[in-house]
Amino acid sequence: MPEQTGFPAAKRFRPGCGLPSRSGSCPPGRRVMLLTAGGSGGGGRRQQQPPLPHSSAGPYREAVELQRRSLPIFQARGQLLAQLRNLDSAILIGETGSGKTTQTPQYLYEGGIGRQGVIAVTQPRRVAAISLATRVSDEKKTELGKLVGYTVRFDDTTSEDTRIKFLTDGMLLREAISDSLLRRYSCVILDEAHERTVHTDVLFGVVKAAQRRRKELGKLPLKVIVMSATMDVDLFSQYFHRAPVLYLEGRQHPIQVFYTKQPQNDYLHAALVTVFQIHQEAPASQDILVFLTGQEEIEAMSKTCRDIAKHLPDGCPAMLVLPLYASLPYTQQLRVFQGAPKGYRKVIIATNIAETSITIAGIKYVVDPGMVKAKKYNPDSGLEVLAVQRVSKTQAWQRTGRAGREDSGICYRLYTEEEFERFEKMTVPEIQRCNLASVMLQLLAMKVPNVLNFDFMSKPSPDHIQAAIAQLGLLGALDQEGDQLTLTPIGRKMAAFPLEPKFAKAILLSPKFHCTEEILTIVSLLSVDSVLHNPPSRRDEVQAARKKFISSEGDHMTLLNIYRTFRNLGGNKDWCKENFVNSKNMMLVAEVRAQLRDICLKMSMPVASSRADTESVRRCLAHSLFMSTAELQPDGSYATTDTHQPVAIHPSSVLFHCKPACVVYTALLHTNKCYMRDLCVVDAEWLYEAAPEYFRRKLRAARS
Ligand code: CDP
Ligand code: MG
Repeated sequence: MPEQTGFPAAKRFRPGCGLPSRSGSCPPGRRVMLLTAGGSGGGGRRQQQPPLPHSSAGPYREAVELQRRSLPIFQARGQLLAQLRNLDSAILIGETGSGKTTQTPQYLYEGGIGRQGVIAVTQPRRVAAISLATRVSDEKKTELGKLVGYTVRFDDTTSEDTRIKFLTDGMLLREAISDSLLRRYSCVILDEAHERTVHTDVLFGVVKAAQRRRKELGKLPLKVIVMSATMDVDLFSQYFHRAPVLYLEGRQHPIQVFYTKQPQNDYLHAALVTVFQIHQEAPASQDILVFLTGQEEIEAMSKTCRDIAKHLPDGCPAMLVLPLYASLPYTQQLRVFQGAPKGYRKVIIATNIAETSITIAGIKYVVDPGMVKAKKYNPDSGLEVLAVQRVSKTQAWQRTGRAGREDSGICYRLYTEEEFERFEKMTVPEIQRCNLASVMLQLLAMKVPNVLNFDFMSKPSPDHIQAAIAQLGLLGALDQEGDQLTLTPIGRKMAAFPLEPKFAKAILLSPKFHCTEEILTIVSLLSVDSVLHNPPSRRDEVQAARKKFISSEGDHMTLLNIYRTFRNLGGNKDWCKENFVNSKNMMLVAEVRAQLRDICLKMSMPVASSRADTESVRRCLAHSLFMSTAELQPDGSYATTDTHQPVAIHPSSVLFHCKPACVVYTALLHTNKCYMRDLCVVDAEWLYEAAPEYFRRKLRAARS
């Protein structure tokens, strides 16, 4: 039990200001306040409700329709449609939970807008696309996949009849490769635009160009709606030809913000102490939402909370601790939306998924340590790492806002007000902090005339773009004549796989090593969330079960062993349970694999198995992932082979206690140091064999 739980809040926290006001600089486009029940636009008065289309009987249906009518956006329906009918582009802003995502496409469809084509709604997250499509098809009383469907990577439920289609931003981008005018669509809604994922950012440019080209060619106009709960509206409006900004005033209640008096060097401990301090003082009906950075942290904290809660004195409410992160199985994610049993307090421990893309009822307290796990890229070292870092001010306010959805709330910020003042104002868009090889490959596959001058809303640095082009060159994907870049036949094949270029290259190289079956399995395993289930409370059992699969050649080979056994046993669920394997993710691996295999067969690639010969598989990985390798140094540490950055083997790797001379890795994670995850033992000679010129150049650069 943490020793400080008895301290009253005021001793360790001091109050700060409330939510920031919406005042902004002079807008580039028109601003329109839409009438809503709770917002200033409606003056707080409830307006007469217009009838809902297609009302029908049945208590469940009635409940769903009542819920639709009670959303803030419902009051603005008429106005919103009148605006959207006449606009080519619009920016729609409204609090999370106000009904933007579920209602806007339905209103458009019901209002007869965009019926000539499909209405697309993009989502940065796969789970959001699936759950929203399910919800909206339910609201429309149709079967999923008919009027309303979704398309996410490796899973498509749409049909000829689909008119409202939820899809991940990455999938719409893929579709643009075969049709850059997006002819199928009458309207594209770019949702959660503030997240600025790399795919959304590229889509902004692709959609804008498609809209212009369709106008020039006199084709069906493309309506573009950019939606978000919070964002730099001026930037977006400017980019989309001074598009008007439509505001939906949501129901935001006052929130008290408290900062710590002192900086906290252990935010996990601080979060734990704060949760129990609230827990001991507040009524059980008031739920707590805690923001942490990732699965492992969240699972560990959940366990600690459950353990402590068991030993609290009588009179303290019981505690229902619920983790929430993107890779959690969907049915478990749903538990956060259900009410807690009487006398229980819900404590939800979530990643930034709970910032905007998911609305949870009943939250009174938010605990925000101010940290997030995000991608960082350094074009000089070529390293793309996931790092735990400070959130931006916008993110902090968004988190705070989660406490005031239904009533006044309280947000405990586990940092000082001075620290907060030093946070970045906005989150740097992912496109400016990730490896752009994938983006460049896709833009080239779309035959964008000049990728170097692509109309990005926020331009990545020229160094970033050059590094990506160099990488594609090394993978044999590019032909360069002067400034003119085109894809080689291999490059075009690489673009056909919905994978990072290096993984596509691994598959394309595999026939040479007669191990396509194995590489397909490994790439599929790396394409879904972890198939390994590691409950911290059963660590010893997990280790005992895993032992029989462990390969001294590394994590990829270990995973390959697990997958082979899973297949041999026909996907037996009991076996999965006994062996701490996530059977749902494993089934997904099998589906992904089948689809990747189809792409290979369509290309007339021979698909052979290397069977017991694992060296061929490792050689193939070395030949495709040679830019992600590290070598053992004389002092026992590791450094990347090309630019000599210090790295370490992650404790979760089967090689953690080994010291192989040379390894390939498939991810880097930066916490207290830079860790390699998912490792495979290779021979250094294979690397030089794979890219002699590359390593010679790097060696020269290191010596000079
Ligand atoms: O997009 P925005 O955050 O404005 O709201 P939304 O996603 O359209 O959700 C509006 C409301 O619909 C939420 O507050 C939930 O009550 C409900 N909803 C749901 O019950 N299940 C979903 N999968 C999505 C939304
Ligand atoms: Mg939404």
